[in-house]
Amino acid sequence: MGKQESEKTVTGSDGSGRYERKALIDKLYETQELSREEWIRLIEGRTPELSQYLFEKARAVREREYGKAVYIRGLIECSNYCRNNCYYCGIRRGNQNAQRYRLTADEILSCCENGYSLGFRTFVLQGGEDPAMTDGWVADVIRRIKKEFPDCAVTLSLGEKSEAAYQCLFDAGADRYLLRHETADADHYGKLHPDGLSLAHRMECLRTLKRIGFQTGCGFMVGSPGQTPECLAKDMAFIRELNPQMVGIGPFIPQHDTPFRDERAGAFEETLWLLGLIRLMLPRVLLPATTALGTIHPKGRELGMLAGANVVMPNLSPLGVRKKYLLYDNKICTGDEAAESLNSLKESMKAIGYEVAVGRGDYRL
Ligand code: 5AD
Repeated sequence: MGKQESEKTVTGSDGSGRYERKALIDKLYETQELSREEWIRLIEGRTPELSQYLFEKARAVREREYGKAVYIRGLIECSNYCRNNCYYCGIRRGNQNAQRYRLTADEILSCCENGYSLGFRTFVLQGGEDPAMTDGWVADVIRRIKKEFPDCAVTLSLGEKSEAAYQCLFDAGADRYLLRHETADADHYGKLHPDGLSLAHRMECLRTLKRIGFQTGCGFMVGSPGQTPECLAKDMAFIRELNPQMVGIGPFIPQHDTPFRDERAGAFEETLWLLGLIRLMLPRVLLPATTALGTIHPKGRELGMLAGANVVMPNLSPLGVRKKYLLYDNKICTGDEAAESLNSLKESMKAIGYEVAVGRGDYRL
């Protein structure tokens, strides 16, 4: 397509390009695929009207695949020690102000007991890359959880490990693993992470996790410093190629004790827009309305659901440590995000026509 012709097509009859971008949403809905140029055009071309159009389609797909069910995961923040020094993250090694903690196995088990009685059937063990939390120790914890709660799924979110370590955790009974790729653009990856961390290794970990048999989740922050529409187009292409069972995205939120303290936060509407696009690209994906989304908007979780999300991850961590697991500023940690407020979460989901499900909420094969 020549430049002139493409410009004519991009510019719709009202000069805004709205018509053509609507056609791109239709194409994504029908084929689950767009070219790089099409991704960029769509990602750049968000408007409130197009967003409403996208969200309607995303909800239709989500309801076709999963009905009105909202899957819940109980998040247990096991440790905020981390050997890494990512520029965006509040639990980075270099943050001297972080109050470090590590839960004991018994504490984790009692979080699960509490969660089970509330109706949770998935427990997510998340933590920094804490060398003291050895693979053998984590494997023991997984075995204890699986023994006590055989009808529950265990999800891990513990960062980059060797293939042998991932295999050991899988053999211990872990079902799922979340490892956000953070950005699929290698240069951008280098702006978010210090030397020694690489996109290539991150991607290799994700492929290993999938090959081992984990239901695997990748994802990224929306509006992280240096992110461009080109970066996001690469994220979409990478996600499509990996074809993960889960994708976690949320807005970047600056944390005051990090090098990115003065950077701008990611935009709420853009995060919703990307949730909708991901739903159309991967119709069956398990897609959370994340805590970060709930942090930047009082109705974040509801609006996330209405944009195509189908998972929420309330916090099951002991109350005393929630304020210490501060990846970013103003993290919600007393209201509806908390597992104790499951009733109000149920109410708020009911109010938008959805229903919190009791069950593992596995990926539909
Ligand atoms: N803002 C938003 N999300 C963040 N994460 C880490 N730091 C921040 C921040 N400042 C996300 C990363 C990580 C996940 C556990 O939390 O994407 O993978």
